[in-house]
Amino acid sequence: MIVLGIETSCDETGIAIYDNQRGLLAHELYSQVKLHTDYGGVVPELASRDHVRKIVPLVERTLQSAGLDKQGIDGIAYTRGPGLIGALLVGSSMARALAYAWKKPMIGVHHMEGHLLAPMLDNNPPSFPFVALLVSGGHSMLVDVKGIGEYRVLGESVDDAAGEAFDKTAKLLGLDYPGGPLLSKLAEEGETGHYQFPRPMTDRPGLDFSFSGLKTFAANTIRSCDGAHQTHANIALAFEEAIVDTLLIKCKRALKQTAYKRLVLAGGVAANKRLRASFENATKSGAFEVFYPSLAYCTDNGAMIAYAGCQRLVAGQRTEISATSLPRWPL
Ligand code: KG4
Ligand code: ZN
Repeated sequence: MIVLGIETSCDETGIAIYDNQRGLLAHELYSQVKLHTDYGGVVPELASRDHVRKIVPLVERTLQSAGLDKQGIDGIAYTRGPGLIGALLVGSSMARALAYAWKKPMIGVHHMEGHLLAPMLDNNPPSFPFVALLVSGGHSMLVDVKGIGEYRVLGESVDDAAGEAFDKTAKLLGLDYPGGPLLSKLAEEGETGHYQFPRPMTDRPGLDFSFSGLKTFAANTIRSCDGAHQTHANIALAFEEAIVDTLLIKCKRALKQTAYKRLVLAGGVAANKRLRASFENATKSGAFEVFYPSLAYCTDNGAMIAYAGCQRLVAGQRTEISATSLPRWPL
């Protein structure tokens, strides 16, 4: 089965074609980052309008680079939610139009399911079951993944998502949006030992996260510092270390609780170098293996939606053409 996947939940238009025999045939991504930078965050109305402008040429380009036309496509997958409603509606309208015109089945995919299955696009995919740590701009959660569609949320953030904490702290450090990667870059210049940030909710049992206190701690630290570049780099490093440590502690706990030996890291924050290095280092104990999507499939993309949609279409699942988009949708 060859599936065209459409991702438009936030500020990236992602289109891809996945074949369950041959793998990923093509993927195209248009990022709106520059459009939103001046506003310090995603402006929903601008995001929707830009998706409208980019989606048709991107679909055409993806078909072209896969060397396919509409006859070659067996099904359409799109992000049904969660996300910005206006942005989601552009993707769902495109999916519905194509499914109707081409007379193909259609499937609405949960954006976070896309993220947690993204490592399946790699050469060395994890086998089920595994624990997935999903850390993006909108979500932080630990999920027990027994198979496609068999997800149990073990813990999640009670306030800010990890990516959100990165972005807000980056803003306080005077960095542009999205600040996560820029804060991480600044942290590379930092020296350890100058600041000690808390590891929230690690001193009590449970798998939930809380990152808003860390952001407040960062705000107070930045306000009372000398404002020098090196000081900011030291703060960025201490903040990043605190997030990575906290995530690692909770992941180890989730692995122990489930008795699983495989951990998947996915979502935008899984692109973080320190996070990857730190988790990689933790696997040296031999207690578990860690898997993450290649960088292109960590942040939002169409390939993960095409992959997840393909699995569901192959299993005979369908979404009615009348289905509404779901800006809030539990996994
Ligand atoms: O998954 P994603 O592309 O979009 C959402 O579904 O939210 O994640 C975006 C988030 C942003 O908060 C961004 O700052 C963060 O992922 N991010 C990073 C890095 N790359 C992206 N955070 C820390 N370090 C990075 N290298
Ligand atoms: Zn995402």
